[in-house]
Amino acid sequence: MEHKAVFPEGFLWGTSTSAFQVEGAATEDGRAPSIWDSFCRLKGRVDNGDTGDVACDHYHRYAEDVALMRGLGVDAYRFSVAWPRVLPRGRGMANEAGLDFYDRLIDTVLEAGIEPWLCVYHWDLPQALQDLGGWANRDSAGWYADYTTLLARRYGDRVKRWITFNEFSVFTLFGYAIPWAAPGITDRGQHLRAIHHVNLAHGAGVDAVRALVPGASIGAVHNRQRVLPEGGKPENAEAAALLDEHWNLAFCDPQLLGHYPPRVARAIEPCVKAGDMARICRPMDWFGLNHYGPIFARVNPETTWGYGWGDAPPDSPTHGVGWAVFPDAFRDELLEITRRYRMPIVITENGCGGSDSPDESGDIVDQHRINYLQLYNASMHEAIRGGADVRGYFVWSLLDNFEWGSGYGNRFGIVHVDFESQKRTPKASARWYADLIKRARSAT
Ligand code: NOJ
Repeated sequence: MEHKAVFPEGFLWGTSTSAFQVEGAATEDGRAPSIWDSFCRLKGRVDNGDTGDVACDHYHRYAEDVALMRGLGVDAYRFSVAWPRVLPRGRGMANEAGLDFYDRLIDTVLEAGIEPWLCVYHWDLPQALQDLGGWANRDSAGWYADYTTLLARRYGDRVKRWITFNEFSVFTLFGYAIPWAAPGITDRGQHLRAIHHVNLAHGAGVDAVRALVPGASIGAVHNRQRVLPEGGKPENAEAAALLDEHWNLAFCDPQLLGHYPPRVARAIEPCVKAGDMARICRPMDWFGLNHYGPIFARVNPETTWGYGWGDAPPDSPTHGVGWAVFPDAFRDELLEITRRYRMPIVITENGCGGSDSPDESGDIVDQHRINYLQLYNASMHEAIRGGADVRGYFVWSLLDNFEWGSGYGNRFGIVHVDFESQKRTPKASARWYADLIKRARSAT
């Protein structure tokens, strides 16, 4: 179906990774621990006791990984910088060896004819800053602004695509209310403060990049997924409405419309000072969307906010990791973003996990991923035909990598990684993606 579609001129195809999930080299060249290094060491938080110490060893193998992307024919590579690699204490003295790594990476990406898309923050706060209260401390907006300034000064001559944050609601909700992610806190007050301070940090980051990088194109990456009450039951409706605000609106609305959604607005009021909303709502160039499938909410009085994660209807189709496959919800989300925020959209993540292993001939035939990507691409076309201004699509992920609480057991790569030998093997989905890109280009 996808080859019939005509893409807008200049449509970009890319692959995504993030620093903590692929780099490894956790103690090399002056890198200090992040909150995820600490979280991995807490008993029972990450499957199998996995850590990011080695990950895909991208820190040493980045040239090989860029060559893989070149082979796929992608236009763009979305990666993140590890804050504790470039500022080990989170602020103050920069680490030249850490900064050098991203110089080398960016130069190699550019030499391969690929555009670097730099994400400033993908969840790995320096532990030194968590020790000062992390995002619950209002000073965090200033720490982040200084860090962004450092990156903009250093890389702004070569990097024009900037992303302030990846998935605001995931790291704040799971970090401060439902303890599935670092720093693993469960506290309403800290959660609310983290939401507001991250929003302030975003605004300050946009201003820093605009001031320092001529021609910068700036976006933020939001995870938006329809929230449905489990079982369609009325008693789960309020749980779904509150989760919807925390998950889908608490960052997009203030950043793009200048106000919080109603339930969050009431609760967050004590954190908001005069002038804050204007600091948060800065002009943006595009909306970054990470989307996988809808989520379900149910009442659960034992949790921080009285809601918990619900189950998808028992008969729903699922992909490798058991997440629901609802391509129509992807189309609807793209149309809803268009209606609500009226701006260009870049799909910064879409993809599918699994346990993919090589067959006897060493081939990895991940047909489930091809099916998923095909369905979601077809939905993206429907949304484009319906009026959504979609400018690009990045698969998550280039490589199998450290999938947070699931460790290395849950593989999202279109390239397989043998974590013993670090051997990379493109899966069938990588060949499918390369072919899709070729066909899409010839159709435009
Ligand atoms: C969202 C996150 O940005 C990424 O880090 C994660 O691995 C994927 N989705 C898959 O869960």
